[in-house]
Amino acid sequence: MKNILITGGAGFIGSHVVRLFVNKYPDYNIINLDKLTYAGNLANINDIENAPNYTFVKADICDFDKMLDIFAQYNIDGVIHLAAESHVDRSIKDPFTFAKTNVMGTLSLLQAAKHHWNGDFENRRFYHISTDEVYGSLEFDGTFFTEQTSYAPHSPYSASKASSDHFVRAFQDTFGLPTVITNCSNNYGPYQFPEKLIPLFINNIRHGKPLPVYGKGENVRDWLYVVDHARAIDVIFHNGRLGDTYNIGGFNEWTNIDLIKVIIATVDRLLGNPEGESLDLITYVTDRAGHDLRYAIDSNKLKNELGWEPSLQFEEGIQKTVAWYLENQKWMDDITSGEYETYYDSMYENR
Ligand code: NAD
Ligand code: TYD
Repeated sequence: MKNILITGGAGFIGSHVVRLFVNKYPDYNIINLDKLTYAGNLANINDIENAPNYTFVKADICDFDKMLDIFAQYNIDGVIHLAAESHVDRSIKDPFTFAKTNVMGTLSLLQAAKHHWNGDFENRRFYHISTDEVYGSLEFDGTFFTEQTSYAPHSPYSASKASSDHFVRAFQDTFGLPTVITNCSNNYGPYQFPEKLIPLFINNIRHGKPLPVYGKGENVRDWLYVVDHARAIDVIFHNGRLGDTYNIGGFNEWTNIDLIKVIIATVDRLLGNPEGESLDLITYVTDRAGHDLRYAIDSNKLKNELGWEPSLQFEEGIQKTVAWYLENQKWMDDITSGEYETYYDSMYENR
């Protein structure tokens, strides 16, 4: 494969994947296709925008005719599909957009790939990036999501991702389209949109704003450093078995409240605040509707078959992440002013 279409490359995870592929594979042509929704930001990838093997295309994956044109124009032979609506709270407010982009958009890409490849699947691959949230929620019982766990999505976001996964498998089974799917746990790291827990809380601490903890803060998430996710995507894109699914996770479970205390301690330390100063910002608010209790990924299949493991310990990852957000305040301010501020205030007031 040489001409690789990466969708959603101006978003959080996509920007790390684009950066890795552009830098690591000078022989590939990387086409980054993104609609630049509120979550897409070209500043996330401005370090590689002039690379000779990189092209940016602003387009909506739901626009099927445009997808056909792009597959033909760039003679696409590999797809890494990350473009999606990705925030659970937004999906509760506006499920239609999630069904449209995540389901119909994925279908439009699958159909364009099928059309362009026209039965010749040699050295071609459609890699769909999904989430562990499709598996639903675990109890506090030490069990994990494996690749055999049945789908049981609870939020409109996870329902839309589950649906897109089913379409990908349907195209593999019905048309022989060469596909691979991965389901990853919560990512953290630089360039994450500050509606998600970690960047939101870092920014709020910096500005002395309340930290809205949903419910009792006892929900558990399994956190993976985003660059490790991008490394896994590289390995699976090149060596993952076609028609197969791989779980990606950090074996790194935290209750929200414990994680929040680590974030507070790290931000206070790096800003030179007295220890524990920002603990008072913790504000318990109404729980998220349908809030999944616990996610935990068993990524042993990926480790045993393809040799991937997370490279970074959480303590180091969170330290790097907090330092990055504090050092890149302009990036944060550019996003959190204007439209976002109004949206965030309305979400917060509605609780
Ligand atoms: P993000 O919201 O930061 O970025 C999404 C990107 O997709 C943005 O650049 C946006 O402009 C683009 N986009 C949205 N709708 C589009 C459309 N109709 N056409 C073209 N581009 C469009 O999301 P993220 O956190 O980087 O997640 C990327 C992918 O990884 C998603 O598929 C998500 O479900 C999955 N995922 C995310 C996590 C996580 O913790 N963030 C974990 C597992 C899986
Ligand atoms: P989030 O970053 O939205 O990811 P996801 O819902 O996909 O796991 O949220 C992570 C956890 O933090 C989740 O349990 C919800 C919780 N949370 C809060 O308690 N307060 C917040 O303001 C946000 C955004 C999330």
